[in-house]
Amino acid sequence: MGLSVGMLLALAVGLCLSVGLEAQLQIGFYKSKCSTAESIVRDEVIKAFNRDKGLAAGLLRMHFHDCFVRGCEASVLIDSTPSNTAEKDAPPNNRSLRGFDVIDSAKARLETRCEGVVSCADILAFAARDSVLLSEGLWYEVPSGRRDGRISLASEVLANIPAPFFNLDQVTQFFANKGLTQEQMVTLSGAHTIGRSHCTSFSNRLYNFNSTTSQDPTLDPTYAAELKKDCPQGSNDTSLVVPMNPSSPTVFDSAYYTDVLANRGLFTSDQSLLTSSATASQVTQNSNNGYQWKSKFNAAVVEMGKISVFTGTDGEIRLNCRVINP
Ligand code: HEM
Ligand SMILES: *[C@@H]1O[C@H](CO)[C@@H](O)[C@H](O)[C@H]1NC(C)=O
Ligand SMILES: *[C@@H]1O[C@H](CO)[C@@H](O)[C@H](O)[C@H]1NC(C)=O
Ligand SMILES: *[C@@H]1O[C@H](CO)[C@@H](O)[C@H](O)[C@H]1NC(C)=O
Repeated sequence: MGLSVGMLLALAVGLCLSVGLEAQLQIGFYKSKCSTAESIVRDEVIKAFNRDKGLAAGLLRMHFHDCFVRGCEASVLIDSTPSNTAEKDAPPNNRSLRGFDVIDSAKARLETRCEGVVSCADILAFAARDSVLLSEGLWYEVPSGRRDGRISLASEVLANIPAPFFNLDQVTQFFANKGLTQEQMVTLSGAHTIGRSHCTSFSNRLYNFNSTTSQDPTLDPTYAAELKKDCPQGSNDTSLVVPMNPSSPTVFDSAYYTDVLANRGLFTSDQSLLTSSATASQVTQNSNNGYQWKSKFNAAVVEMGKISVFTGTDGEIRLNCRVINP
């Protein structure tokens, strides 16, 4: 006699539970191990924010770029070495990620306080949370206990980070690849309510959209004209930047969705949220109800923060976030 369906089911559930338990992040993971961990990170993020509000956007994006390449294991923080080109030196990271020294300062203080205890991946997740709050988003608990990876490859970035010229199917697919739904993708795209973009990330929409049309017809022409002033054609200044949500670029509000509704989404990927009725209705809802969007954002960013994490005895606690342990 073989195994009954019931026994198989029980076995499967048991397996899932034990695997789940092992891989579980937990709120307050450092409470007994390093009680000031989260407050030290917050203190460093506040100092940075007071210096430059844009660093909040930088840190939130960095957490996203960490999680989407090899999971939330701080691979994005690793420096290149003579024998390895790391993620941070590949496009789209190399021209635009910012906030690395905020993580370094927090890590330095944490190593003095509790040597070898707090992972770089958790520091980054806490810093992203603090960035959302400082920008007037809502606070959320960050499940922690992540450990750091030992691999960071420039060659893996482009295949995992969605590009600004992607259409709706493409962005949806890249999030699905990480176990995130299309709705979570719409919710998380609202992060573009803070921060900036380099002209090079969207200038195709202004000057060379396709072989027959130079300017993207889905971009509001008045906005396009303003962008052309800030991003002149043929400029060799690759450091030119514009705010992504010009009306309130440092505030974590739902104005991003209002922009998208007005055909003022900066990237093709932003504007593509109007190309299906399901995503378009989420855009309208989020635009109308900022509080609800902020709560949904927090839930989605917590899910994003669980992608392929190392826990338990996997990975390591890096001593310097830029260097894998010897
Ligand atoms: C949906 C697919 C996404 C695409 C195609 C995308 C693409 C981009 C691009 C091209 C930039 C501008 C980089 C530059 O030129 O300086 C940017 C900035 C930014 N992204 Fe995204 N992104 C996406 C999703 C997300 C998500 C999920 C988050 C976080 C939850 C996020 C947070 C940010 C932030 C905060 C900035 C501003 C960074 C700064 O000011 O330094 N993005 N994104
Ligand atoms: C980013 O990396 C790409 C590919 O290696 C390179 O062509 C580009 O010049 C780099 N950009 C910056 C600003 O370093
Ligand atoms: C270029 O874009 C326009 C507007 O979206 C479209 O009507 C046209 O078919 C496109 N042309 C080519 C060659 O893809
Ligand atoms: C671009 O740079 C070159 C040399 O650095 C300079 O001669 C040229 O005038 C610049 N072009 C523009 C449009 O700024």
